[in-house]
Amino acid sequence: MARNTTPTDISTLYLGAPDVARIVARKGLPVCIAGVADRIHADFLRWSEFDKTPRVANHSLDGVIELMPISDADWYSFKYVNGHPKNTQLGVSTVMAFGVLADVATGAPRLLAELTLPTAIRTAAMSAVAARTLARKNSRVMALIGNGAQSEFQAIAFRDIVGIRTLRVYDVDPRATAKLVRNLHDQGLEVIACESTAEAVRGADIVTTITADKQLATIITPEMIEPGMHFNGVGGDCPGKTELHADVLHAASVFVEYEPQTRIEGDLQQMPADFEVIELWRVLSGQAAGRTSDAQVTVFDSVGFAIEDYSALHFLNDTARELGIGDVIQLVPQMNDPKDLFATIGPAGDLQRAPARSSIATISA
Ligand SMILES: NC(=O)c1ccc[n+]([C@@H]2O[C@H](COP(=O)([O-])OP(=O)(O)OC[C@H]3O[C@@H](n4cnc5c(N)ncnc54)[C@H](O)[C@@H]3O)[C@@H](O)[C@H]2O)c1
Repeated sequence: MARNTTPTDISTLYLGAPDVARIVARKGLPVCIAGVADRIHADFLRWSEFDKTPRVANHSLDGVIELMPISDADWYSFKYVNGHPKNTQLGVSTVMAFGVLADVATGAPRLLAELTLPTAIRTAAMSAVAARTLARKNSRVMALIGNGAQSEFQAIAFRDIVGIRTLRVYDVDPRATAKLVRNLHDQGLEVIACESTAEAVRGADIVTTITADKQLATIITPEMIEPGMHFNGVGGDCPGKTELHADVLHAASVFVEYEPQTRIEGDLQQMPADFEVIELWRVLSGQAAGRTSDAQVTVFDSVGFAIEDYSALHFLNDTARELGIGDVIQLVPQMNDPKDLFATIGPAGDLQRAPARSSIATISA
């Protein structure tokens, strides 16, 4: 039966790993970090407009696979992401991700994208947005503990958004540190390789921990704390996986993304249920104080929240369309008669005559 209305377009923009890498290379990493940071900041100011839930995690012996859904009135998004610290021994990334942006009005998936690289970008952007508010204004030196896949992104975000000029870096794997030093050699940062976490942390204004180890680790211990330090704890992001000793949290004002999720997953998992924390959106919107003195110790207990991926997916969607990168695919069937799914498996098929896949550059040309 022929339709008598023009069908709503439900095609999906597909961005695979090479597409996303091209987008970041064409735009430049600093532009992407700044763009995602601006969107995260703006979306955190719309906090009450989002339908929020802690992510859904499936745990196994060596890792976790998580689904991270969120929506506002117009857009629904989710990210699929894993965390498997032993993966690098198999030649596979610790963290891999992809995600979807869907139209709330119809439920149609409008973007399907690789999100491993965007996860590093949005995590760094989120950390830097938090530190811009919570760290001392004249912070110039950052210790970076854990020099794996995420580390360069943190370095560049803190250089551009916070004003960090010197990095004191340490990893239990010297090859990871050598890789970081190599990758950052022309980025306008002084990078000092250290022999231990304690050495790296000494004298730093900001300490970022971004290690991967599925255990209750205490990478930062209380005697390492110096007055006024800001801790950006990124790697403690899953039950049974921490980086900060509980007394570091006791000594600090602790800020989180979304409290119900961080209580389960963050370094906060070690603390009693009534341990006081402040959600960052309240500081960004002026409803709560952030840092109140130069001597105060602050912690951003980062675990990664779905709004950050929503922001990153929108940045990717807009930038891919602007640059003409990606393919338009029929991920779900667009039929001549939407009530006749059965006809799509008939001899003639009943899919709209759209090609299965075409470059967005051709379509928008
Ligand atoms: N909070 C977030 O939003 C968010 C987002 C992405 C990743 N993460 C987490 O960040 C961490 C790093 O991710 P990645 O992709 O860079 O992983 P990766 O495996 O590439 O790198 C992790 C590095 O940590 C090092 N390391 C492990 N234990 C250490 C220790 N005790 N001291 C110093 N270094 C140590 C490892 O040698 C490795 O080089 C992971 O735990 C991941 O789950 C968090």
